[in-house]
Amino acid sequence: MEHEKKEQVLRALREEMSADEALPLRESNFVFGEGSAESSLMFIGEAPGFYEDKLERPFVGRAGKLLDRLIEAAGWKREDVYISNIVKRRPPENRDPFPEEIEAYKPYLAREIEVLNPKIIVPLGRFSMNYFLPDAKISKDHGRVFRLKGTRLIMPLYHPAAALRSTSVLQELEKDFAKLKVVVGKADELITAEGKAVEEAGEEKKQETLL
Ligand code: URA
Repeated sequence: MEHEKKEQVLRALREEMSADEALPLRESNFVFGEGSAESSLMFIGEAPGFYEDKLERPFVGRAGKLLDRLIEAAGWKREDVYISNIVKRRPPENRDPFPEEIEAYKPYLAREIEVLNPKIIVPLGRFSMNYFLPDAKISKDHGRVFRLKGTRLIMPLYHPAAALRSTSVLQELEKDFAKLKVVVGKADELITAEGKAVEEAGEEKKQETLL
């Protein structure tokens, strides 16, 4: 899809979502994804928090500042990647989103991904990871590279909020970001690579661990 067209479809999706009264958490502000529609890299968090709700932008609080720092340390700019969340309105008191809330937002996330068509999706934390890899465990599977239906890579990372609470998680996240940089550099090769071990997790979601 051409750049202009992508931007246009994203804008329409944003408007449709923000007007959808069937979506839960309507008492909070609507926080859509932002960044470059041309990026090969899409980060997906869980749900907006306090500052995200106030500013109506994803990852602008403390966790967002850490994410910015990691993105810059990898040599990228925040505006050159795309950053979004599964659930696009803040749950009260920053509680975890309920399964039915995640379910309600899922079809829209699928459309957002389809339009952006990123080569690499980086789920941040377990909620986002389990959308792609239902059986994965963040402590075991963070930093591993999975291939989804032969079209793109999924590399789950710890959520930056978890790294703010634990030095060892922060160290793991920094290590994984260094690896992400390498993965971005050879994404095409990894997407088409053959002869790797295949893991099945969920009927439709054929996954291959690549690294
Ligand atoms: N945590 C998330 O998962 N998303 C945000 O946008 C901010 C904090």
